[in-house]
Amino acid sequence: MDIRPLTGSLGAEIIGADIKNDQQFEAIYQAFVDHSVITIRGQDITPEDHLAFARRFGSINVNRFFKKLDTHPEIAIVLKEKDQKKAIGERWHTDHSYDQVPAMGSILHAIEVPPFGGDTVFVSMARVFENMSDPVKSFLRGLKAWHSSRHAFGASQMQSESSKTGRIENAHLATQDALHPVVIRHPLSGREGIYVNPDFTTHIDGVSETESQHILAMIYDECQKPEYQARVSWSQGDMTMWDNRATWHKAINDYDGHRRYMHRITVEGCALSGAQ
Ligand code: SIN
Repeated sequence: MDIRPLTGSLGAEIIGADIKNDQQFEAIYQAFVDHSVITIRGQDITPEDHLAFARRFGSINVNRFFKKLDTHPEIAIVLKEKDQKKAIGERWHTDHSYDQVPAMGSILHAIEVPPFGGDTVFVSMARVFENMSDPVKSFLRGLKAWHSSRHAFGASQMQSESSKTGRIENAHLATQDALHPVVIRHPLSGREGIYVNPDFTTHIDGVSETESQHILAMIYDECQKPEYQARVSWSQGDMTMWDNRATWHKAINDYDGHRRYMHRITVEGCALSGAQ
């Protein structure tokens, strides 16, 4: 097995691995801890294999809003058909940050990929934080932020293309609001990192709306730097696992007229603690 870093900030691709081989799990797990995003190339697997691999990391967190595989309801479908315009996960986000105990990681397996495009881009939230100045770090360490599923998956989204095509469902279950530290101590690596994101974070707790907007905009601007990012290009069979406590991600929607079909499993995490 060959583990090759994708960038200086995060991500690694793993060549020559087989997720069904238990003896390789320790090295794969360590790569996940070290790089926050791992792309394991060329996995010819069944949904059962995908589930068995995910369960080695923890119990499965069944997403409430994504359409599920009929045969395996623990597996969410991430799909864009040829004639659809919107992709799932186009905005920068961190899966499940609207839960008070947010998911640890997500494991996406490529079943069908477009002939070009359809990459996924990731940001290292530890690297973003580490490169901030000491006074800004101290300021951010003292803040908490609210996250919600309501605006993203609730009634206001029922007219969206994703809802109308049945890819997103259960708007009535979008009732989660969660308060998390803006800077968390990562449960596995111990690194400090930012934990707010454009899709699910609604506002900073205890400050005015204008202040909240400016603080979030300052953080979000930093995250746009390519130096903190890694881009994963997919081939059929590739599997990418990312750590939701350490990264943002977004699906690049640049393949209109082509189908992209993925299976996603989300693994349970733990409550997050602030940096102090
Ligand atoms: C997601 O946001 O979970 C999906 C990412 C992707 O399809 O690349």
